[in-house]
Amino acid sequence: MALYAIGDLHLHFQSPLKARAQMRERVWKNHEEVFRRNCEALLRADDTLVLVGDHSWGRSLEECGEDLRYIAALPGRKILTRGNHDMFWDANRTGRLNELFGGRLAFLQNNYFRYGDYALVGSKGHCFEGPFFLDARGRIVGWDEEAEERSKRLVERELKRLRVSFEAARADGMKKFIVFLHYPPTSILEEDSAFTRMAEEYGAEQLVYAHSHGESRFHDSVEGEKNGVLYSLVSGDYRRWQPLKLLD
Ligand SMILES: [Fe+2]
Ligand SMILES: [Fe+2]
Repeated sequence: MALYAIGDLHLHFQSPLKARAQMRERVWKNHEEVFRRNCEALLRADDTLVLVGDHSWGRSLEECGEDLRYIAALPGRKILTRGNHDMFWDANRTGRLNELFGGRLAFLQNNYFRYGDYALVGSKGHCFEGPFFLDARGRIVGWDEEAEERSKRLVERELKRLRVSFEAARADGMKKFIVFLHYPPTSILEEDSAFTRMAEEYGAEQLVYAHSHGESRFHDSVEGEKNGVLYSLVSGDYRRWQPLKLLD
């Protein structure tokens, strides 16, 4: 039995492809097939794979049908968190998704799932992504303050959701935690954040995130061990479609 994670499949079996990188970069070529083969070689029926958001380009549950069926057909137990592109997932109706896909897919928000004696907790998360103003050398000299204000409100909302997830697990006596976010826990301006502090507060052992695509974005946030928490980026293109093993 093992626990794995990956993010940002950006499937589009029934919907138009929207990202330029996905059309041009080599790593995205046939990525559905590459990822499926990797999973079939790696995952066993008693393994768990957490997919940390941006599952599909589809704008509705109907348009994501094929994409979600593709994920459901992968080996092992699949747990999903929300990404910023997951329009099919109404944030207030996660329970409904869990009913609809019961036994095939599990949706993580305002709840938690067990893996051995670990609680898998999570939310979409959020971090400020600009717009930043750069000087001629590409150094950040300022940013859009209105956008920063909006971003702070989203961070607050996601922090509440993450705390609900932690507290649900704690109420059941869970003491060991792994945190799954879609967004990186810190913006490029931050060394730490309310998300990293919450992970520390609950004694989480790991925090896993995705959302960052392309060479220039892979090292935007915390990586490796910091204050007792192990941070890992699992964007599919960064991992070359190979799920990262978190626990045996
Ligand atoms: Fe993404
Ligand atoms: Fe994203």
